[in-house]
Amino acid sequence: MNEARGLRTHYCGELGAADEGVPVVVCGWVDRRRTHGEHLAFLDVRDHTGVVQCVVDERIDARNEYVVRIAGVVRIRPEGTANPALATGEIEIGDCGVEILKRAEPMPIPLHTDVDENLRLRYRYLDLRRARMQRNLRIRARVNAAIRQAMDAQGFVEIETPMLVASTPEGARDFVVPSRLHPGSFYALPQSPQLFKQLCMVGGLDRYYQIARCLRDEDLRADRQFEFMQLDAEAAFVGAEEVIDFITTAVSHTVEAVTGSPLGEVPIITWNEAMDRYGSDKPDTRFGMELVDCTDLFAGTQARVFQVPCVKGITVTGGAEMGRNRIDELTAACKRWGAKGLAWFRVGESEDGAPVLDGALCKFMSAEEQATLPQRLEAGAGDMVMLIADEPRLANRVLGLLRLELGRPPVSEGGLAPLWVVDFPLFEDIDDEGNPQPAHHPFTMPHPDDLDYLVRGGGESLLRVRSQAYDLVINGWELGSGSVRIHDAAIQMQVFAALGIDEAEAERRFGFLLEAFGYGAPPHAGFAFGIDRLAALLAGEENIREVIAFPKTQSGADPLTSAPGPVEPAHLAELGLRLRPS
Ligand code: AMO
Repeated sequence: MNEARGLRTHYCGELGAADEGVPVVVCGWVDRRRTHGEHLAFLDVRDHTGVVQCVVDERIDARNEYVVRIAGVVRIRPEGTANPALATGEIEIGDCGVEILKRAEPMPIPLHTDVDENLRLRYRYLDLRRARMQRNLRIRARVNAAIRQAMDAQGFVEIETPMLVASTPEGARDFVVPSRLHPGSFYALPQSPQLFKQLCMVGGLDRYYQIARCLRDEDLRADRQFEFMQLDAEAAFVGAEEVIDFITTAVSHTVEAVTGSPLGEVPIITWNEAMDRYGSDKPDTRFGMELVDCTDLFAGTQARVFQVPCVKGITVTGGAEMGRNRIDELTAACKRWGAKGLAWFRVGESEDGAPVLDGALCKFMSAEEQATLPQRLEAGAGDMVMLIADEPRLANRVLGLLRLELGRPPVSEGGLAPLWVVDFPLFEDIDDEGNPQPAHHPFTMPHPDDLDYLVRGGGESLLRVRSQAYDLVINGWELGSGSVRIHDAAIQMQVFAALGIDEAEAERRFGFLLEAFGYGAPPHAGFAFGIDRLAALLAGEENIREVIAFPKTQSGADPLTSAPGPVEPAHLAELGLRLRPS
């Protein structure tokens, strides 16, 4: 017996015709059981590698999911009984002796058919037995191993940063942990290791990385969990170009290690171009349907809807067939997204073969407008043209969402379409109270030419400040973000001030960082990408829960362990806490 294999000599899924005549011992769970009379049973035995059929010529009480150890001899299945759907379908194990290692209660969830996700998570340890979860978690492990390999090879040092920290703003709420030894005080769980990795640069570590657990109290979605993993990296004496280079290397190596195929060229486009062409800072470039500016075609228009600063459109190839219900649905969606409405035209054909528009707005448009619009949008007979008329940011955003709604393939189709988006603005919006919203975090270096716009209360001019931030996008998912960092206390204070963080608050929350900048901080830059998201993309899963062993439900609960749960009053008292009656 092979010592390292413990109770077995072989794994179920590795047996094949080449093993004919070999005596083997396999261990696993009874996947399915068929009996023929009293003394003949076919047991499909499953381990993590696959399933093998075992033929048992004795009376046996082995039910589904019993844990068994079976000794027998591999033989080719009788003619006509091979199962091409099974990797081991050419063979079976015959002359079997069965040892039942552990009986099992009837399963509370079916393991071979779909079932409600709450139930799957309630019995996650059983759900993990499914081939899908086995495959996904092994893909994830390969992702982690490949990332470590690639970062080590590029001279990065793995450093662990603490979990009990002061708040690190990344735009979400903190999870907080009360301190027993400092009653009334709280640690935050890290939203990211951002500030520690910058301090590592001040500390001369030169190239840092970590496969870091991050925690953010935000609403959960398909691509968001409270806890998630990042490949987090930082390097000194480098700029955006080098970061883009070493992250591209790490991601390419990982993709190749998992899929066997290279990632290929990763194009770089600016944020402005991404917004213009795709209406999104995370464009899904697996499909076309790019946004086309038509504003100039309506310069002198009589149509009131088009008398706006921006008219842009998309062409839905073959979309002329679209029914009225679907169009109404899309119009309602555009209104929800902030547009006043959706202008749409079916494209037909004139007798001489020219495209002809057909839509309710045609009667307000000149013949020239009707003729040039399909040309500009490269629309032909059978297509549908959809326009949004508004101010440019809104038109882009709404069309970007419409484009996804109409064209986005499922995550498992169309391969991987990665791209870098660079030159993000420092602030992406100004909220109703006049506060600018940082596009990345507040430690991002503004573009040196735009420092003059960086004045508190600068209003719209703040939106002109470019930053040295960049994102990696794959198939429309923001895989990761990074930036060149501020390493100068004066500039950092300017950015804090623009964000409405006054000197006293900056000192209280980030005094340690500003102080560190005073002791010889090197220029530095870094990046972090989501490992859950990368694993999901590589596993072809729409939801990162499918690549996490024990995730939370959409409502943030764990039905298996019943977290979150109450705490004993004595424990609360020890922490100096009292609950308000709800
Ligand atoms: P950012 O906040 O963009 O940047 O996060 C980086 C990446 O982490 C992943 N991610 C998440 N994954 C799952 N669930 C979540 N709730 C979640 N939130 C974020 C995403 C995201 O792109 N400190 C900076 C990086 C840097 O500047 O170096 C940061 O954390 O894939």
